[in-house]
Amino acid sequence: MIIQAKGLSKDYTVHNKESGFKNSLKDLFTRTFTSKTAVSNLDLSIEKGQIVGLIGENGAGKTTTLKMLSGILHPTAGNISVCGYVPVERKKEFLKKIAFIMGNRNQLVWDLPALDSFRYQRKIYEVEEAAFKKRLGTLVDLFKVEDLLNIPIRKLSLGQRMKMELINSFIYNPEIIFLDEPTIGLDMDSQRAIRKFIKEYNNTTKATVIITSHYMADIEETSERVVILNSGQKVFDDTITELYKQYKDDAIINVHYTGKINIESIKNIGEIVDLANDRMKISVNQSRKKELMALLMKECESIEDFTVSDIPFDMIIQKVSGKESTV
Ligand SMILES: Nc1ncnc2c1ncn2[C@@H]1O[C@H](COP(=O)(O)OP(=O)(O)O)[C@@H](O)[C@H]1O
Ligand SMILES: [Mg+2]
Repeated sequence: MIIQAKGLSKDYTVHNKESGFKNSLKDLFTRTFTSKTAVSNLDLSIEKGQIVGLIGENGAGKTTTLKMLSGILHPTAGNISVCGYVPVERKKEFLKKIAFIMGNRNQLVWDLPALDSFRYQRKIYEVEEAAFKKRLGTLVDLFKVEDLLNIPIRKLSLGQRMKMELINSFIYNPEIIFLDEPTIGLDMDSQRAIRKFIKEYNNTTKATVIITSHYMADIEETSERVVILNSGQKVFDDTITELYKQYKDDAIINVHYTGKINIESIKNIGEIVDLANDRMKISVNQSRKKELMALLMKECESIEDFTVSDIPFDMIIQKVSGKESTV
């Protein structure tokens, strides 16, 4: 196992702040703190060469987990071994093996062209000139950014910048890559290019990758294995196929109707996951689909539109996380 975490927990200490000037004065003398558990008793074993999708709703503990695995944060409890190193010791040899890329944070210098940063990176990570040139060539070709290397970062688009960020991190050939929402806010083309790159890099170097994302396509296209966190706890750890298998029996029905509708009778058959004036989204087991449709025909004055689809990935995550329907 290249990554092994046992009983990993992280509590943040949060300073309770009351608002208002008077309170901020009072605060100076009577500071109170509470503890917030972000990750709780997490076990995680990852084999070399695996790509693991780490998912969960906002605040589930994904970033905190990656920060502990890469040694940016001290765990409150538990043990971690990454490539045989204790991450938080941040040994030089360890840092050379890992890369941590955050989609919402820049590491490149704003006013410098990317190439200058790459050269600086080469020095820090002690990459041989020949290896540097070769790798840079491959990466630049892959992302088709040759013409952009000498332009200051600030003049590049978000997608172009992210590609440069990735090159900057991959130039020293890391063996373990932590990607925290690497495609956030990017256009479709850039998202696709990044996914493709991650897969190719993994394929050719057998690097180990943990990726978090809000875009399910990122996970579906890159990861075989999915780990789902909910309130800091692991609630699922298996293949994507297995995840779908458990929920393949659910369908989503979208109805656009006019007039009144008896919600209670629908709730007996399916779960209403979204409700507006004249629209309703119902999650229902395939075996009860017909029954539900008959009921809708009977209950609704008039049905304007009706669609049936498979349950989407983010709804599966909500279900795995045990979230109740909001209606
Ligand atoms: N520096 C911090 N101080 C206090 N609480 C934090 C801090 N960072 C994250 N949290 C809290 O810890 C929980 C997990 O956060 P995070 O790991 O960022 O989740 P995710 O990446 O899945 O959205 C959230 O409730 C968040 O508010
Ligand atoms: Mg996060």
